[in-house]
Amino acid sequence: MTSKVRDPSFNSLPFLNKNLKRIDKAILQSLPPKNLSKISKAIHYSVLNGGKRIRPQLVLLMAEALKVDVNPKTIDLMAASGELIHCYSLIHDDLPSMDNDDYRRGKLSCHKKFDEATAILAGDAIQPLALEVLTTINDKKLKPEQKLKIINLFAKACGPRGMVEGQSRDLDAENRKIKIDELDEIHHLKTGKLIEACVESICILKENLPKKHLKAFLNFAKKFGLAFQIKDDILDVIGDEKILGKPLNSDTKHNKATYPSIIGIEASQERAERLCTEALKILSLLPYDNKNLIKLSKFIISRNK
Ligand code: IPE
Ligand code: IPE
Ligand code: MG
Ligand code: MG
Ligand code: MG
Repeated sequence: MTSKVRDPSFNSLPFLNKNLKRIDKAILQSLPPKNLSKISKAIHYSVLNGGKRIRPQLVLLMAEALKVDVNPKTIDLMAASGELIHCYSLIHDDLPSMDNDDYRRGKLSCHKKFDEATAILAGDAIQPLALEVLTTINDKKLKPEQKLKIINLFAKACGPRGMVEGQSRDLDAENRKIKIDELDEIHHLKTGKLIEACVESICILKENLPKKHLKAFLNFAKKFGLAFQIKDDILDVIGDEKILGKPLNSDTKHNKATYPSIIGIEASQERAERLCTEALKILSLLPYDNKNLIKLSKFIISRNK
């Protein structure tokens, strides 16, 4: 399976394409040299492989919206960190003991290209690397407690009260009938928490951000994250495998709890759209330069990849 295009719908949003170059450069700079070892090769293979980079895009667009007064390099490191955590999660998510998927981003998944042990270890390496990257932030405009809080946010997002718990509950819910509230919680943990960390970490950098604005951004991120995962569930059923770059019907095959399996495709799309509309309403009431965040929010529910 080969992915023909990075993302056709990106073309209507030039700022995303422009940000991609900056994001990929920051990610590359955070990695060990490709030929250092087998693990390094697996890391490069699994990280520099054409993901949409939605999480680092959120970091960049939040920084743009809030006009945070820090060195651009700080934002780059935060963006890279968010994407690294995500890439690690995808490597492990595809393992035979989890979703057992052979393709990711249009190429063989890490355990298929290399072997299972290498995929486990590559994931194991990328997760702390993401946090190490944050510790290298060296910016006089940042107070040590702000830096510590940012590291804390990303660490919490991927830990036992975040993504890992969500992934565990996702697996436990296979072959089980669950209520939509339980599914909301699983999706919030496995996908939403990291998205929230990307948004909140930028709020930390904004001097004197009113508490109610922080609350509003967190609420925005929660709705964005849920809409994003609902759309992912929908694409598993009705997407185009060549464009998606990952196998269709993986969720059905594993009898996963997903929105389409519980409420159907149409109601799932409506739910994603409603969440998006609510997210847009929140942004529209905030006095920041949110225009590109608004465009990204619309993109995540209309995307075909
Ligand atoms: C897929 O994420 C897994 C989820 C958490 C929904 P993305 O749709 O962001 O995947 P890439 O990074 O573009 O490959
Ligand atoms: C993955 O969700 C969430 C992660 C934390 C990796 P999925 O299992 O639905 O992601 P895809 O569909 O394989 O990309
Ligand atoms: Mg999964
Ligand atoms: Mg999966
Ligand atoms: Mg999925």
